[in-house]
Amino acid sequence: MKATNPHNSFALQRQLMIQKKLQWDLMDDIKWEMGIDQTKPLVPVDFTAMGLHELSGEQQVVLSQYLGLVINATISEMEDALPRLKFHGWERILDSYPANPEIRELGELFFEEEQKHAAAFKKYLQLFSQTVGLEPDFLTKFMPRTYGSRFQKIITKNAQAGGHAFWWIVALTEEVSIKIFHEIDTIKDECDPLFYHLHRLHLEEESRHANYAYLMLEIIRSRPQNFKRMYAKRMDYLFSQLVATPWILGELTKIFDAENYDPKSEFFDTLKSCLPHLRKVPKLKLATQMFSSVPYISWFLNPNWRNFCKNMADKHGAIMPRLPNLRIHL
Ligand SMILES: [Fe+2]
Ligand SMILES: [Fe+2]
Repeated sequence: MKATNPHNSFALQRQLMIQKKLQWDLMDDIKWEMGIDQTKPLVPVDFTAMGLHELSGEQQVVLSQYLGLVINATISEMEDALPRLKFHGWERILDSYPANPEIRELGELFFEEEQKHAAAFKKYLQLFSQTVGLEPDFLTKFMPRTYGSRFQKIITKNAQAGGHAFWWIVALTEEVSIKIFHEIDTIKDECDPLFYHLHRLHLEEESRHANYAYLMLEIIRSRPQNFKRMYAKRMDYLFSQLVATPWILGELTKIFDAENYDPKSEFFDTLKSCLPHLRKVPKLKLATQMFSSVPYISWFLNPNWRNFCKNMADKHGAIMPRLPNLRIHL
């Protein structure tokens, strides 16, 4: 983790310089011309551990691709929601406490980079749709979406009321997206090269700006306290998790909407053929697994492994959710 002291202007200035120098361009630096190899998986998945050992090789590749697209969409939707909360979730907090120009400039850059990441993941989704013979926006129907969701409304209301659950969601997304890349890296030579390349570039910028949420959380922690702020410090970590969890679980069921569509696409037919197998996994088993042993999803839902978040939540004196530890083997 880079600078964690929001008052160390020198360290922040240095970070700013590095981020500006190394930032990539959505069109010029991503090798879109590579196209997508639709025969390759996107993310590693242990189907046996998930009770899906009956799937054929083809079905496994398609489900891995679907999960990869859902992961992209989850990150991209969370990142795209950030600029919409810029005023209440960021500017008002900085106005409430002396902040140096570097913190503000780093924040502008942070929002700009996240918007670019969201655009890159959306572009990949459209390209994937076209590659498998579908309309560019067809697969969007089956992907997580924050716009207009209860999740977004509640987080916005929390920020408008002076809360900071928003920054815990940002910290969650930062830490999860870095972890996701490390898993994709384990199948570097087997997964779609463009998907790997995109996540590699994403990781580079994430690693450079991952401390920003913690700088903001540190500012929030050190501000002069009143009852409302003390209450938010104690509750907002738990609150962010309680709001994100139903959103993620609800959005995951969108895969079953596939049954209502019949476009001409081998990818989509194979995806639909997986649904009876997914339905067979007992609901209780599935729910327990979601929180403890499904890679990617458990990382979003279960904060136990997130050490940076946990340390900061400790410093805030925040109430933490009690969940089982992760049991994930890939
Ligand atoms: Fe990002
Ligand atoms: Fe980020």
